[in-house]
Amino acid sequence: MLLITGASGGLGKLIAGRLAGRADVVLGTRAPAAGERRIDFDDPTSLADGFAGVDTVLLISAGFGEDDVVLARHEAAIAAAEKAGVSHLVYTSLSGDGDHLAYALAHRWTERRLRASTLRGWTVLRNGLYAEFLAAIAAPGPDGTITAPLGAGRLAAVARDDLAEVAARIATDPAPHAGAVYELVGETALGGAELAAAVGGSYAPGTLDAARVAAAGWVERDFQIPMIVGTYSAIAGGFLDGGGVAAAGTLRRLLGRAPRSAIEAYVAAVEDRS
Ligand SMILES: NC(=O)c1ccc[n+]([C@@H]2O[C@H](COP(=O)([O-])OP(=O)(O)OC[C@H]3O[C@@H](n4cnc5c(N)ncnc54)[C@H](OP(=O)(O)O)[C@@H]3O)[C@@H](O)[C@H]2O)c1
Repeated sequence: MLLITGASGGLGKLIAGRLAGRADVVLGTRAPAAGERRIDFDDPTSLADGFAGVDTVLLISAGFGEDDVVLARHEAAIAAAEKAGVSHLVYTSLSGDGDHLAYALAHRWTERRLRASTLRGWTVLRNGLYAEFLAAIAAPGPDGTITAPLGAGRLAAVARDDLAEVAARIATDPAPHAGAVYELVGETALGGAELAAAVGGSYAPGTLDAARVAAAGWVERDFQIPMIVGTYSAIAGGFLDGGGVAAAGTLRRLLGRAPRSAIEAYVAAVEDRS
């Protein structure tokens, strides 16, 4: 049996949709509906029952929180998987070119924890930043101007649905992927000018300082502010354009087709938000 954690999140829902109706798949979530299991890494007592009888866990990172919180969540999940005799754990991580991002630490910690685990098999899906996430941090304003401080930098954004497809495929047949670490970034890097052209707007990048002030007005929690500002900075600095990691074509190979258009996913997400 395959258990998918974080099943009601953006990525989890897409994966669950692909595997709907399969008797060998169960959804894990903090607020389960009938037929689902309660999985809350902040409440490790939920995990013994939650992981019972499970062969494969698809651990969707629970990255909303400070590092100490996220590390504790992932430790609880991996320790419970070890204890429950889970055979294989598939973890959704962050692409290698994201090492400069504040949220990379928790992902790399979790990868190390997996390598040191007693689990028989594990697979790391190093997901690139979603085109949908780009729509959240680089959306056009009411006048159509994108002011996100991306400079002349570009992001090898990836449609979240492609990552869901790869995750669903690997989690339902994990054995051939044991010990693999896959870099899953988009093939076409997107910069402010391309984003603006796609939404019929203009690109007038502001400063990181202005973005920090603006982020303070829309984030849910303070810890998100340095994460967002650091993301702009890494894109502007040219660290996330896919150079090096995209060239291997891993996403295309695992999909068995060309990746979905990231710019179309960006535009659709911008339209959804407005
Ligand atoms: N690559 C990117 O661009 C990008 C962008 C944002 C986030 N991320 C990372 O990728 C993960 C998945 O992305 P997403 O789009 O699905 O994010 P999302 O929509 O924010 O969903 C995250 C899910 O994590 C689960 N979660 C949160 N706290 C948990 C806990 N204590 N125990 C167990 N599960 C918990 C929740 O699932 P339930 O509600 O079902 O319990 C939540 O819905 C995120 O959590 C984050 O670590 C990546």
